[in-house]
Formats: sequence, structure tokens, C-alpha cells
Amino acid sequence: MPLKHDIEFTLNGVSTRATVPVDMSTLTMMRDVLGLTGTKYGCGEGECGACTIVVDGVSVNACLMFAVDCDGRQVATIEGLAADPRADALREAFVAHGAVQCGFCTPGMMMQANHLLATHPGADEETIKRGIEGNLCRCTGYRKIVDAIASVAAQPQPGTPGQGERP
Ligand code: FES
Ligand code: FES
Repeated sequence: MPLKHDIEFTLNGVSTRATVPVDMSTLTMMRDVLGLTGTKYGCGEGECGACTIVVDGVSVNACLMFAVDCDGRQVATIEGLAADPRADALREAFVAHGAVQCGFCTPGMMMQANHLLATHPGADEETIKRGIEGNLCRCTGYRKIVDAIASVAAQPQPGTPGQGERP
């Protein structure tokens, strides 16, 4: 039986406590302990980006981060984008451009796109392509996803607390 630790961190702006085994991933904690299933399990080994979250303003693969390492951090998941104006614009753009097919990559892609636009407002196409290169999509061929993100990048950018804006 693995040792357990009590951790406390800010999750989508809310102070959160959990008791987790030392060998549990942040992805498993989100899905199986905290019930936040928006963050997807794709590969489990840092290759697909389906599990993308933002920790202290940096996008990370939740499958590669131990849950205990969330202690004291600011963590944002796709659920935290529910009332986010930039994420609203991204959601609408993904639908308008047909950038969602099976949808399995979409939460991670949305997290990464939102983080990209928070840190690179007005990002050009090359920046967008580089920004999402760690997020795999088997359905869309990426063109529609890049177009969707670019259409939002061309709009005025609202701020998103916790998503890594530059000061
Ligand atoms: S599930 Fe984490 S990168 Fe694929
Ligand atoms: S829409 Fe299916 S993997 Fe991206």
C-alpha cells in the first residue's frame, strides 16, 4: 500500500485538499479522486497532450506530474474555463471551423490554445503551430484547429486569471 500525503492547492481558483498516494499522477487525482473528468487520459506517457493542464502559469501534461507535486500550486483544468471569455471564443471558433470531430483531444487542445493566447496574444500561424505541437489530434488534420485558434488570435484578447498572462 503506497504511502499517502495530504496536499492543499488552488484548483480553478478554489482552495482544494486531497489525500493522495505518493505515486498517483495528477491526471488520476483529477479524474478519480476529484471527479474532474474533463482532463482526458490519452497515452499516459506525455506524448499526446490530452491531459494538458496549467500549473503556476505553465502548461504541463498531468499524466507526467505526481499529484503530491500540486501541493501549494495554482492549478487550472478545462473545467476552470467554463466562464472564461477567451475560452468561449475558442469554443465557438472550434465549432465554426469544424475543429472538433471525436473530441478526445479537444479539452487538452483548448487548454493549450487558451494558454498560448494568454502568453502570446495575437499569435501568428507559426506560433500557433509550435504552441500546439505537443497536442496530437487524429481526426482533423490540424488545419481546422490552427484556423480556429488563429481566428481568436485575431480578436482583442481578454485576460484570464491563472492562465499565464504576461505582466
Ligand atoms: S495522457 Fe498525458 S500526454 Fe497523453
Ligand atoms: S478531434 Fe479526434 S483526436 Fe482530435
